[in-house]
Amino acid sequence: MNSGTSHISIAIDGPSGAGKSTMADRLGREFGFLHVDTGAMYRAVGLAVKRRGIDVKDREAVEALCGELDIRAELSENGQRTVLNGEDVSKAIRENSVSAYASAVAAYPGVRAFLLELQRETARTQNVIMDGRDIGTVVLPDAGIKIYLTASARSRAKRRFDELRERGEAVDEEEILREIEARDRADSTREIAPLTRHPDAVLADTSWLSFEEGYSLLRKIVAEELDRVR
Ligand code: DC
Repeated sequence: MNSGTSHISIAIDGPSGAGKSTMADRLGREFGFLHVDTGAMYRAVGLAVKRRGIDVKDREAVEALCGELDIRAELSENGQRTVLNGEDVSKAIRENSVSAYASAVAAYPGVRAFLLELQRETARTQNVIMDGRDIGTVVLPDAGIKIYLTASARSRAKRRFDELRERGEAVDEEEILREIEARDRADSTREIAPLTRHPDAVLADTSWLSFEEGYSLLRKIVAEELDRVR
């Protein structure tokens, strides 16, 4: 339980492409928790940088841009909707090209501080299931339930490849694997809030599991953990 409130937070962290967001969305519906996808917020900042033609390596320019951004995570019938300065960008932030921008901006302290406030505020007043890289370690260290969801880089690349192909994006599986490995490296070696497993986080490795098997595993973990904390 979060100290000082009666709310319960579930933190799900793990590398990109492990299925955190899809799983957390479904878990949220099943257990009655608001799902907050924090990766979508970093993607929204990345998209804004890309659209304005700002050099993503220019930390000062990227951090200054945050002051002009109004990012909202809203609940819709189809899950979380990400709104950037009034525009629904839920689809645009999923484009493959936005991933590298998101990863780059996520390394900047000013960007993280900007989004941290937004993320904590959301969890202050309601039961949330929040997924990202640093939720159990930095954003909500008091979260009563912490899960680390992972899968091998190869199996994540395969899933991502299938997903993009289904959407009609022409991609190469080996290139996706290289991108995933590069993002894993960037996310886990950056100085600020790197991706790491909190010692209390329950480990769920879905490398060898289908989506449904992975979901069953997570559902079991959440049910057991809820019994423990309630
Ligand atoms: O989960 P995702 O692929 O949508 O996340 C996009 C990027 O945002 C990813 O490269 C890492 C970053 N991120 C982060 O640094 N911290 C979070 N809590 C969530 C995402």
